[in-house]
Amino acid sequence: MIEIRNLSKSFTNSSGQTDILHNISLTIEKGQWYTIFGPSCTGKTTFLGCLAGLLSPTTGEVLYDGIQFFQLSDKARSNYRRKHIGFVYQNVKFLQHYSIIDNVVLPFIHDEPKKTLYPKAMTLLEQVGICNELFERFPEDLSVEERQRVAIARALLGNPSILICDEPTGNLDVNERNGLLDLLSFYRAQGQTIIMVTRDEDATKYSDYIYKLEDKQLVEMDRHRIN
Ligand SMILES: Nc1ncnc2c1ncn2[C@@H]1O[C@H](COP(=O)(O)OP(=O)(O)OP(=O)(O)O)[C@@H](O)[C@H]1O
Ligand SMILES: [Mg+2]
Repeated sequence: MIEIRNLSKSFTNSSGQTDILHNISLTIEKGQWYTIFGPSCTGKTTFLGCLAGLLSPTTGEVLYDGIQFFQLSDKARSNYRRKHIGFVYQNVKFLQHYSIIDNVVLPFIHDEPKKTLYPKAMTLLEQVGICNELFERFPEDLSVEERQRVAIARALLGNPSILICDEPTGNLDVNERNGLLDLLSFYRAQGQTIIMVTRDEDATKYSDYIYKLEDKQLVEMDRHRIN
């Protein structure tokens, strides 16, 4: 369970302080799919950054299974993140001169022997719908949708209990979007906790809990889960 308590985040620059998130509280239960939607610049990526410890909240706290995340040392927080959180970034980055399969294993290359890591990566890539002819291709030779699927496989390689996806369907057409949501649904059915943010209200359709980020706060929407 993740407890977010009174989380606020402001950025300060030369023109002063801008408040992005104000006093947000939310409890995230294991094995559920939470989607937060809101227009551009409402603070969705900022919220995920605070949740995953990539950004420090200005005030408030985040507890993972009772552990005060921001009271951990930077190293302990980063270790916790590596172990428990898979993050699919809004602007997915790959190393262009490495193959798809290498891009998936690289974050864990020092943690596990290659002879177990590569088979795991292959299984995951197949599971997300990437056939093995694509494993040795370079990232730029894949479609946007395929790259998004690879990013999900990479985020899941460390077997995290929480999968965070920042706008995973952003640049996809309707069919591709639905395919990607089906994939997330598959992981949700396997007990994965999913936290997703999106600008697209239609992308919320399989979620267990839907929130709108509005006026720096989360507003819970009616649930309309399809399956
Ligand atoms: N490091 C930063 N310093 C100053 N302002 C920032 C910083 N990061 C984000 N912001 C500002 O915070 C606001 C929210 O940004 P954020 O990226 O969280 O929005 P978003 O909802 O994810 O938008 P999008 O849908 O376009 O991805 C924006 O106005 C942005 O310019
Ligand atoms: Mg964003």
